[in-house]
Amino acid sequence: GASVAKDDAGVLTVGGCSAPWLAREFGSPLYVLDVADLRARAEGFVSSFGAAFAAVGGRARAFYAGKALLTTAIAGWMAEAGLGIDACSLGELLVARRAGVDPALVGLHGNNKSDAELALALDWGIGRIVIDSLPEIERLEAAAAARGVRAPVMVRTTVGVEAHTHDFIATAHEDQKFGLSLTTGQARAAADAVVAAEHLDLVGLHSHIGSQIFDAEGFEVAARRLVGLRAQLQAAHGIEVPELDLGGGFGIRYTSQDTPAAFAELAEGLAQVLARACREAGTSLPLVSFEPGRALIGPAVFTLYTVGTVKRVETGAGVRTYVSVDGGMSDNIRTALYDADYSCSLASRDSQAEPAVVRVVGKHCESGDIVVRDEYLPADIGPGDLVAVPGTGAYCRPLASNYNLVPRPGIVAVEDGRAHWILLPETHEAMLAADPGFAATAPEPA
Ligand code: LLP
Repeated sequence: GASVAKDDAGVLTVGGCSAPWLAREFGSPLYVLDVADLRARAEGFVSSFGAAFAAVGGRARAFYAGKALLTTAIAGWMAEAGLGIDACSLGELLVARRAGVDPALVGLHGNNKSDAELALALDWGIGRIVIDSLPEIERLEAAAAARGVRAPVMVRTTVGVEAHTHDFIATAHEDQKFGLSLTTGQARAAADAVVAAEHLDLVGLHSHIGSQIFDAEGFEVAARRLVGLRAQLQAAHGIEVPELDLGGGFGIRYTSQDTPAAFAELAEGLAQVLARACREAGTSLPLVSFEPGRALIGPAVFTLYTVGTVKRVETGAGVRTYVSVDGGMSDNIRTALYDADYSCSLASRDSQAEPAVVRVVGKHCESGDIVVRDEYLPADIGPGDLVAVPGTGAYCRPLASNYNLVPRPGIVAVEDGRAHWILLPETHEAMLAADPGFAATAPEPA
């Protein structure tokens, strides 16, 4: 995770900045991003997959899934590490463009892309537009024809793999909104339609099987099925689809229960499987790409909270200590939404007190507003202490809300003893300014 260490006084320090100084200077709750850690992880992904595919005579590349957390600075660091950006909205495209990302290394996803999203994708000239339905092929063909350009298209397939993860984040089974099914022939029909379209180039086949996945098995099945479809298209049209994209989904360690495989291990396994599948299908080895989000940004960020009320509650089976912090489900909904587990530690001082199991909760008006379900914290934890929750880089700020009109926290990047905002915190002033009051407009009478 983030290169956090505690000094002799038990104070947590990251990127040369201590937790108490960060909280004083920038306030809390606060997302803290360790830049060196992020760079190392992103470069590690690129080099692990690069080396593994080079070893089987192939090539791999990666597109950072911006949905996990995207700011201009993050897009820039990912580009410096050699990754492209996978976007799925106008907002994500605009941030990638502002960061100066090479459009050839930008992809666009989405099951319901707007005209504005398709227009920017074509006008900026991004490298891949991932088609998710048959009607979208016609829309994109028309938009490309109107501009007199050719659009690079990937077809998102549903490969029918059961990803062993929470239902809401598993995406390759049949009955859900994403992708075109391989088993019913929809994926093949879509690929045929793209090949036939005058202004579309079929540049790849895509599969994303889910998120927070620990082993290579599901990816391997998906890879073999995509190789199969690619071979069919070669037989039917005489074309070698240049690229297969296996999506994102690589899991991270939120708690000691989580045991994700290392990038190098995953990469080597996948490279071998793809090489063998292509050999058996009698095809060349395509360029292989990935869209990691969580695995790159998740561990690089922790959330810093200030402890307020500590309360002991009689549960019937004993006493539970509730430690309340100054944020909660508005800055991390993942516990309530996916039953996610986090861990935390005291970040502001040393304590000789016995560790005791406590529940860390937020300040919101819901009993499900839990930050960390069960954690050992020193029994003397109390108001003013700082608590750090690691692994909050992915899908926490993007899923954050203004519930209870609590402003969403900003993100501070730390490196070499310096810290700066890469996303400003919301303010009560801005929230009030966005609320225009009583003024009402009546509809025109018919
Ligand atoms: N590519 C596609 C097409 C995706 O849909 C996703 C994630 C990714 C890549 C990146 O997946 P990752 O490497 O980050 O697992 N909000 C949920 C996760 C939703 C994932 C949506 N798609 C959560 O907080 O767990």
